[in-house]
Amino acid sequence: MMSTDSIAEPVVAIVVAAGSGSRLGAAVPKALVPIAGVSLLRRSLTQLAAGGAQQAIVVVPADEVDAFDADLGEAPLPTRRVIGGAQRQDSVAAGLAVLPELLGEADGVILIHDAARAFVPADVVGRVSDAVRAGAPAVIPVTAVTDTIREVDDLGSRVIDRTRLRGVQTPQGFRRSIIEDAHAALAETGTPVTDDAAAVEYTGNEVALVDGDALAFKITTPLDLLLARAVAEGRP
Ligand code: C5P
Repeated sequence: MMSTDSIAEPVVAIVVAAGSGSRLGAAVPKALVPIAGVSLLRRSLTQLAAGGAQQAIVVVPADEVDAFDADLGEAPLPTRRVIGGAQRQDSVAAGLAVLPELLGEADGVILIHDAARAFVPADVVGRVSDAVRAGAPAVIPVTAVTDTIREVDDLGSRVIDRTRLRGVQTPQGFRRSIIEDAHAALAETGTPVTDDAAAVEYTGNEVALVDGDALAFKITTPLDLLLARAVAEGRP
């Protein structure tokens, strides 16, 4: 008989792609912008699958369902599509709401990923999942900050010691019960957060950091798109 240790826990990725993506200036929703013929969304799903995700929930804008369904026809792993909400947090909550259908009561590792981070290396995905499996309630991939950063307010501005700062990437990883409880608590109090690690901290859990990677950059502006094309074509 197999020991319980050797039975792999399910790993489910929730990919949020319900933003407007207007900063990119593209004619299609950002997640469907093709890079060398493959959409950002499908590239993200491929990387998540390569890093160990077994199923995905893709959260899409209500007015673009047909276009997303067409793209998801070629998804590299079993995928459920749901409709997102007004804020990123609402879209994540819509994705979490599907977990009982996919997992029943079972525990698992939940990876929450921005579709726009389409080149996230598989080893970053693996590091995040491994740290959750090893016992961390919440895990985020981070990178050092290379710009000098200044804080600005009504009194003027001042430099912040960048050696103490980290940029936060996705996928962020969570034990299922931890992220479900965090989003339920936020919904109850109407508290806004900009990422899921902040949601988990709101309920008093600690967030562990693992190494991210420059390739997990978020494709937001036309310049990012140029970089993405160069990466896809293997240009130095
Ligand atoms: O706007 P921003 O770049 O921070 O969005 C991060 C991610 O959250 C994107 O992948 C975007 O599609 C997603 N999002 C969402 N629902 C929203 C707003 C953003 O799924 N209402």
